Amino acid sequence: MIDINIEKPIAIIGLNREQKLNALNTRLYLELYNILQQLEINKEICAIIITGKGRAFSAGADIYEFYSMTQQAFAEFLKIARMVYDFIENMNKLVISAVNGYCLGGGFELALAGDLIIATKDALFGFPEITLGLIPGSGGTQRLARIVGRNKAKELILTAKFITAEEALSLNIISKIVDKELFLEEAKKLANNVCKFSADAIYKAKRAINEGIESPLSVSLSYEIELAVNLFNDNVKKKIEEFIYKKEKRSM
Ligand code: COA
Repeated sequence: MIDINIEKPIAIIGLNREQKLNALNTRLYLELYNILQQLEINKEICAIIITGKGRAFSAGADIYEFYSMTQQAFAEFLKIARMVYDFIENMNKLVISAVNGYCLGGGFELALAGDLIIATKDALFGFPEITLGLIPGSGGTQRLARIVGRNKAKELILTAKFITAEEALSLNIISKIVDKELFLEEAKKLANNVCKFSADAIYKAKRAINEGIESPLSVSLSYEIELAVNLFNDNVKKKIEEFIYKKEKRSM
C-alpha cells in the first residue's frame, strides 16, 4: 500500500491505494509506521516527502473499515493513527507533505502532522467527519486550530467545507502552491534547501517550535536557550570561521 523511493538524502513515501483515493486503513497505517521507524534511524536520510498516488493525497480514514468496527475497535484504530501522527511530528527528519488532489479527514491530519505542506493548485482540503456524525479524531481539531486559530478551525470542521490550495495558502496551512507536473520536484527542491543545514540544528529547531508552542513563554524561552547552547560546538565555530574568511577575502 506504500511505495518508498530513496534518493539520498531524501526518502519519498507514496501512499499507494490509488483506487480508494489512498484511504487510510489499519494495514496502511502499520506499514507506514514500520517504514517511518526505519527511516528515523537512517542517518543518510535528512528529509521525508509524503505524497499520494493518483488524484488524491488521501481521502481520509477508510470508511468501509469503520463500518465493520465496534466502538472498541474504533478506539484502537484512532490509537494507531495517533501513534503514527505523533511519530511523524517528532521525527528527527524534515517531513514534507506534498499534496495533490483530495486531502481530507485523516489525510489532512496526516499532512498537518508533518513540518511543511506544499500543494498543487487543484488540491482540496477539508474535514468531512461531521457529515458522518463524527469529528476529526487524529489531531484535526487540535493541529488545525493551532495553525488557523479557534474560529477558523471551527468554521472548517463544523461546516465540512472543502478549501482550495489558494485558501489553504492564505490560512498558512501550506507553504506554497506548485505546478502539478513539477510538484515532486518542488518538494525535493524544498527538502534539499533545508538538508544543506546541520541535521542536528534542523531537529532542534523543530523541537523548539513544536514543544515550545505548547508551554508558557518563559519555559519555552529557557528550552530554546538549552537547545541553542547544546548546538554550539566546534562545527559552529568552523562555519563562523568560513563566514569570516569569505568576508575578508571579498573585502581584499
Ligand atoms: N474510505 C474508503 N474508500 C474511499 C474513501 C474513504 N474515505 N474515499 C473514497 N473512497 C473510495 C470510493 O469508495 C471509491 O471506491 P470504489 O470505486 O471502489 O467505489 C473510490 O475511492 C473513488 O471515490 P469516489 O467517491 O468514486 O470519487 P469521487 O471523485 O466521486 O469523490 C470524494 C471523491 C473524496 C469527494 C469522495 O470519495 C468522498 O467523499 N470520500 C469520503 C471522504 C470522507 O468522508 N473522508 C473522511 C472519512 S472519516
